[in-house]
Amino acid sequence: MERIVDRLTEIKKQGLYRDLKYLSAPQGPHTVIDGREVLLMASNSYLGLCNDERLKAAAIKALQEYGVGSGGSRLTTGSYRLHQELEQALACFKGTEAALVFNTGYMANIGAIAGLADKSWVIFSDELNHASIIDGCKLSGAKIVIYKHCDMEDLYQKVKEFQGCPSLIVTDGVFSMDGDIAPLDDIVRIAQQFDALTMVDDAHASGILGPNGGGTGELFGLKDKIDMQMGTLSKALASEGGYVAGKQCLIDYLRNRARSFIFTTALAPATVAVALAALEIVEQEPEPRKVLLENAQWLCTRLKEAGFKILENKTPIIPIIIGEAEKALQFSQALLEEGIYIPAIRPPTVPPGTSRLRLTLMATHTREDLNYALAKIIQVARELTIIKP
Ligand SMILES: Cc1ncc(COP(=O)(O)O)c(C=O)c1O
Repeated sequence: MERIVDRLTEIKKQGLYRDLKYLSAPQGPHTVIDGREVLLMASNSYLGLCNDERLKAAAIKALQEYGVGSGGSRLTTGSYRLHQELEQALACFKGTEAALVFNTGYMANIGAIAGLADKSWVIFSDELNHASIIDGCKLSGAKIVIYKHCDMEDLYQKVKEFQGCPSLIVTDGVFSMDGDIAPLDDIVRIAQQFDALTMVDDAHASGILGPNGGGTGELFGLKDKIDMQMGTLSKALASEGGYVAGKQCLIDYLRNRARSFIFTTALAPATVAVALAALEIVEQEPEPRKVLLENAQWLCTRLKEAGFKILENKTPIIPIIIGEAEKALQFSQALLEEGIYIPAIRPPTVPPGTSRLRLTLMATHTREDLNYALAKIIQVARELTIIKP
């Protein structure tokens, strides 16, 4: 125990201690965190659907029809018609033959990667891929080859070096902490040249990017060229769960191999019903994602003009780079005092020296919200000498 206490003290000293904040109101642009009303600029509920009346009605209907828990794993007694409907709808959304729903996006990534690859495989993974991809790679036992972030020359050389081995190239579609988009066209070209499989984690792109919100595969016109399109139900779709979409044989294989699918209780019917209803909204309503991306572009430009170091993106993720963990934390805390919540993201989530405030927008933020936030962010950053007065 002494060792743990010492380690905790060390973590605190480095400004890396993690604590929880508690919400006591629905998640929307305005919510209540630890008893304080705040303007929330940190949600992954990109389309602002967490408190949507239509989704709440879908949950209530499913609760009344099927009860609360699912009662079993998917392979025993936990598969409801709703799960099947959702998998069919997701396959249709992603333009694939089939899809498999997992309980979280994290479980989808570890299950799919470790279910597919074993120690005879080589996995090429972008250095900034999400932790769940990293963990899936480790669990698989495959040889892991990390390539430089979105560096296609580096990827090419590394795939070439291992040609002939069964291999998988895996990337985030939109990188969760940087908000940039992977060069899928080049990745697919390299994969085809060397007969590698491809996997894209579209947790932050599904429902947002592409003409129909289909994600980065759709954005690049490559839906049918990506072997595994992974996504989550927990961000734009405002529910919980994850999925992998691809060819029928691949989905059949994962249903038999993915341990995080097999050895866990299925998602509750109401959770599944919410995802299904949200998918319908995404398909029928293009306007919110258009507004979201326009707002993100607008705010990004204004922040850059004010002197912030911003990573340039075409997504709703706006990272404000600060550098030192403690400074980022101080900035985030000072903003919270002013009624704006944007968390500080620190190592190990991001590399040392690149701590940041990760600002994300919802389609339901108004321009008034954005103007207010902008003024406060500038004011606090000047007080803390993060930008020049
Ligand atoms: C890129 C990425 N992949 C996977 C996940 C995991 O998804 P979930 O939260 O549904 O477990 C997340 C975030 O949570 C993510 O940002």
